[in-house]
Amino acid sequence: MSEPLLSVRGLTKHFRLEGSGLFEKGPTLKAVDDIDFDVAQGETLGLVGESGCGKSTTARLVLRLIEPTAGSVVFDGTDVLKCSKDELQKLRREMQMVFQDPMSSLNPRMSVGVSIAEPLRFHGLGNQIERFARARDFLEIVGLSTDYFDRLPHEFSGGQNQRVAIARALILRPKLVILDEPVSALDVSIRAQILKLLEELQRDFRLTYVFISHDLSVVKRFCERTAVLYLGKIVEIAESEKLYREPLHPYTQALIDAIPVPDPSNRNIVQRAGLEGDVPSPINPPSGCRFHTRCPKRMERCSTEAPPLQSVAPGHQVACFLYR
Ligand SMILES: Nc1ncnc2c1ncn2[C@@H]1O[C@H](COP(=O)(O)OP(=O)(O)O)[C@@H](O)[C@H]1O
Ligand code: SF4
Ligand SMILES: [Mg+2]
Repeated sequence: MSEPLLSVRGLTKHFRLEGSGLFEKGPTLKAVDDIDFDVAQGETLGLVGESGCGKSTTARLVLRLIEPTAGSVVFDGTDVLKCSKDELQKLRREMQMVFQDPMSSLNPRMSVGVSIAEPLRFHGLGNQIERFARARDFLEIVGLSTDYFDRLPHEFSGGQNQRVAIARALILRPKLVILDEPVSALDVSIRAQILKLLEELQRDFRLTYVFISHDLSVVKRFCERTAVLYLGKIVEIAESEKLYREPLHPYTQALIDAIPVPDPSNRNIVQRAGLEGDVPSPINPPSGCRFHTRCPKRMERCSTEAPPLQSVAPGHQVACFLYR
């Protein structure tokens, strides 16, 4: 990989929860625990894992919307976690985020055109006429009519509002866009359209994406490389095609086995046998390998020693004692 656009090292976020008594210290929730990954200019890295494994927390840490417990995030040569407020403000123009629920980033009382133009105003760019003209351009770029400028979000469908949220994220011409479950809340029929739009925008604007999803089948199609998270840890990273063809970590294998496959006999979707048991709590997570409580291949050492993420082939890293 050439010099990565985004480089994350040892990134950690522990939330201190409230104690039950006034003077009692609360437990620590290990949401993200010492993760490393790189994203090359122009590529799409997928981050997958079950709900609660730390995907959104990772996204927020990268954009420094929350402060980390430890680690570094270097974006385009600048350490995001150490830079001054002014530098951070500048960096924020180049790093944007799209959320699962478009309504969370849109003001329900603001017209969609004004919402799209808002980041320009916030960063003091252009006058109002210029900003609104640019917002109209971006309405068209995301496949909406400029006639919609004065509409309110409630007049739109979920898919249309997600287009508006994408326009708002792109109007500052960022280099990196973190897409946090951008199609998970949409009707299945709309998902493919939004993914196609995101692909076109990536090509036209030379964007770099981090694509977050709990749905492996979406990530497989959309991302060149995929990182699999389990309880705040990366357990495997590889080119998506390789990860799906030849998953090495028992957790990745279980996730891929659990992808619903069409049953040719009755055309219903069937769920293959997946994982047994629930994800343990990130408060006092399992010792050793965090997956050992559910792993069909666990060995004695797995409950006491934590396997580091190690290279097993070029571009393929796994955290599991089976591959040492
Ligand atoms: N502000 C917070 N305070 C305490 N715990 C949090 C906070 N934000 C997230 N968490 C916890 O961190 C873990 C990871 O959450 P999150 O990153 O949202 O997971 P994901 O996006 O993968 O579903 C969860 O257990 C969640 O409850
Ligand atoms: S280290 Fe042990 S428990 Fe963890 S995934 Fe590998 S075999 Fe399973
Ligand atoms: Mg999330």
